[in-house]
Amino acid sequence: MALAKYVDAMPIPGVLKGRRIRNHKHCGRPCKSVTFYRVKMEQIKQKLHRDLPMTTLWAYEGVYPGPTIEAKVGEKVKVLWENKLPPKPLLPVDTTIHGAQPPNPAVRTVVHLHGASVQPESDGYPESWFTKDFEIVGPTFTNKIYTYPNNQRASTLWYHDHTLGITRLNVYAGLAGFYILRDPMEKKLCLPEGKYEIPMVIQDRSFNPDGSLFYPTEPDPPSTVYPSIVPEFFGDTILVNGMVWPYLKVEPRKYRFRLLNGSNARFYRLRLTSNQDIIQIGNDGGLLKHPVILKELLLAPAERADIILDFSHHMGQSIIITNDAAAPFPGGTPVDPDTTGQVMQFRVELPLSAPDRSVIPAHLSEITRLKESEAVKHRHLTLNETTDQYGRLLLLLNDMMWDEPITEKPKLNTVEVWNFINPTMDTHPIHLHLVHFQILDRQPFDVDYYQTYHEIITTGPAVPPQPNEKGWKDTVRANPGEITRIIARFDPYTGIYPWHCHILEHEDHDMMRPYEVVK
Ligand code: C2O
Ligand code: CU
Ligand code: CU
Repeated sequence: MALAKYVDAMPIPGVLKGRRIRNHKHCGRPCKSVTFYRVKMEQIKQKLHRDLPMTTLWAYEGVYPGPTIEAKVGEKVKVLWENKLPPKPLLPVDTTIHGAQPPNPAVRTVVHLHGASVQPESDGYPESWFTKDFEIVGPTFTNKIYTYPNNQRASTLWYHDHTLGITRLNVYAGLAGFYILRDPMEKKLCLPEGKYEIPMVIQDRSFNPDGSLFYPTEPDPPSTVYPSIVPEFFGDTILVNGMVWPYLKVEPRKYRFRLLNGSNARFYRLRLTSNQDIIQIGNDGGLLKHPVILKELLLAPAERADIILDFSHHMGQSIIITNDAAAPFPGGTPVDPDTTGQVMQFRVELPLSAPDRSVIPAHLSEITRLKESEAVKHRHLTLNETTDQYGRLLLLLNDMMWDEPITEKPKLNTVEVWNFINPTMDTHPIHLHLVHFQILDRQPFDVDYYQTYHEIITTGPAVPPQPNEKGWKDTVRANPGEITRIIARFDPYTGIYPWHCHILEHEDHDMMRPYEVVK
């Protein structure tokens, strides 16, 4: 029986308080301050719906989703991510996949700040995991305290677990939160702010009758491995900010919502039952050049959309955000209009507390286009589907496993074009750490011919990115039967970083590869 919808208010994650530390070295230079945070991962119980018993979760600072970290561009932030989790895993661990084999402990964590430009030792490399109180650490572990310089464009980032072989389980258990990087210059734009600016993470989950999280123990049909990873997992219940099908009371005015698809595998194509415009002002890499007016908004796992909704002509209405993205996307099972086809409800019933003076400026930010002529290298990278030794679906990048030697080594400060060739049936959201990129285009090709002869014959023109995909991205939808081209400048750090599909079951098995920025 499905849970009742719109009976719980949508929570808004609290903002984490940091400690300002000033470096009083009398060297004559101005004091450089650092903001320090300490973030514990713990097992908690939390109420996720009126009619559900408490759910056991893994959470940052005792709350799911984790508290929001807010930082300003240029502000140096340091975080001590501490594992205080119990020794027993919460969800079924498959010990046959990369990184999860014994003697590696079952409960391991490492935190990645998605969208951040950081040194490799603060990036949350999948093999830099650590256990409770750093008792056991992974092969590439170097330091406990991570440094985030925040020298990049303002945008909506998010932190989440990234442990090799169990990322899907740790994130599903609750280990994710927002990190909002602000630019004081944005104030001048007069966008909705304060209580009219709200982050919203959309996730799907399934529950057992006792309120505990359900995550499958094996695929259907089963393999010889138990418990076993599944090709992808879709929950039958939609949560926003950790609450099942919540409602949000709003005033008849403009709001800014920072949307994040924090689901393991589910895509969302969102619409409003009022059929009103969704005005998108930003994406993964911050503000767009101009606002983009949409009727529907597609979000793959890990993608963000900064949007404005104007409720000023909707006083007294209840407006539902619906979803019609098939799972897997795009060719899978259609959503159930009564459950996964709905996300949350806005109730336009609060009195207007003050005149809405916010605006939607016609020009939002400067986006400098990277030119293809600057590219020193074009790489062709295939997204492959094959089977592992147990006959299970195995997804690969360029036909290689995670632990094979590094093949992508862009030179520091050079521009490259990466072509993602997708002969599979599904859209894979491909994410690169360290850099933000621009999407050049997508072009269809003959998949059958490619599978037989390993040669590309394009079957149509290259299509430029959607207007809301222009600007800077860190995650791109690589659609089936298409070559998706992105362009990036590989800077400002050298070192080894991952790139991967952000469908977490794919990432864990084994759709992730290291790349190295070299001198
Ligand atoms: Cu959001 Cu490598 O991840
Ligand atoms: Cu990332
Ligand atoms: Cu994938």
